[in-house]
Amino acid sequence: MSSKHVYLDYAASTPIDERVLEAMLPHMQDTFGNPSSTHRWGQQAEAVVESSRRTIADALGSSPHEIVFTACGSESDNLALRGAAFASRTNRDANRILTTPVEHPAILRTAEQLAELHGFHLELLPVDECGRVEPEALSSTIGQDVAIVSIIYANNEIGTINPITELGAICRQHEIPFHTDAVQAASQLPIDVQELNVDLMSLGAHKFYGPKGIGVLFVRAGTQVVPTLTGGSHEHGLRAGTPNTPLIVGCAEALRITMEERDSHNLAYVELRDRLISIVSEEITHARLTGHPTDRLPNHASFVFRDIDGNQLLAALDLSGYACSSGSACKTGDPEPSKVLLALGFDRPWGLGSLRITVGRHTKSDDIEVLLKVLPDVISRLRTAQDKEA
Ligand SMILES: Cc1ncc(COP(=O)(O)O)c(C=O)c1O
Repeated sequence: MSSKHVYLDYAASTPIDERVLEAMLPHMQDTFGNPSSTHRWGQQAEAVVESSRRTIADALGSSPHEIVFTACGSESDNLALRGAAFASRTNRDANRILTTPVEHPAILRTAEQLAELHGFHLELLPVDECGRVEPEALSSTIGQDVAIVSIIYANNEIGTINPITELGAICRQHEIPFHTDAVQAASQLPIDVQELNVDLMSLGAHKFYGPKGIGVLFVRAGTQVVPTLTGGSHEHGLRAGTPNTPLIVGCAEALRITMEERDSHNLAYVELRDRLISIVSEEITHARLTGHPTDRLPNHASFVFRDIDGNQLLAALDLSGYACSSGSACKTGDPEPSKVLLALGFDRPWGLGSLRITVGRHTKSDDIEVLLKVLPDVISRLRTAQDKEA
């Protein structure tokens, strides 16, 4: 077992930025009032929550009224999809949900449940071998009977970036609500909702060095959404529950810092990512990059290795001191190839051997160089062991 441990799973979660923690701490204790209360403690909390809402709105190019705080990216996805699907059915009798086979389960399982339990008609738009949705695939099927279109901005497993601005323009032309899951994208890609042409957009703070337990849903003014968590009229009536003041502060500060530092971090990430991709492709046999070669998240390198068990690979890398992933964090431990890899056309012998390496603010180039020495040996050891077993 290596004594040094290197974290290379920033797509699963990121460590909280110390500046974010510092901003949050006073509000854990002092700003305990309920923002809905009319007394001074309540007003103090409300001022803090509303100032954070404005910070998020500024980052997204939106109005504060269009920002809804949730508990995580999954909840934002649920509110967007369920809320818009039910509203569209009630208001204009629209019953089709258009999404893709490469969504995070927070969208895909929600869409499946809306179809199974609530009678919506679910259609998965085709993706190419890199996991991208071509705008023509959307324009050829969209119509007035579509309740909501939801397309992931940047894929968590394979890093591919979708042409959200173009896809959004098609939805706008047809006046159909358009949601994007930007949970992975927010730390690295432009998130101006006007440029992206989105009506609904999900974020989760723990992916951009903020705290866990807090997410954001952008809801464009005029977009019809029914609440999924009913109760009080918090969050413009879209999400009941007393707002979590310290987490909201942390989310806003994390996004503010991310926007300020994004370009310089991305430059460093791309260098590490491209080094990983080129050396793995050159030095390891039966290895393939998954996702788009260039139109991908700056920090994201993902591969499949033929005839390798991805879980054994992760365990061996962990023993060597490297924390990586085989796809989304939720997939780890699952013996089947992921739905995303199957949608890209990988068969079982390839799809079972997936590896995702995601770098972040604390990744050192020396760590990547050592990993690039360790990885070919680990793969060859696993293949030799498997040949002996066969
Ligand atoms: C693309 C994407 N959407 C949604 C989620 C869910 O976010 P959360 O973990 O904040 O619920 C994730 C988390 O991995 C993700 O990568």
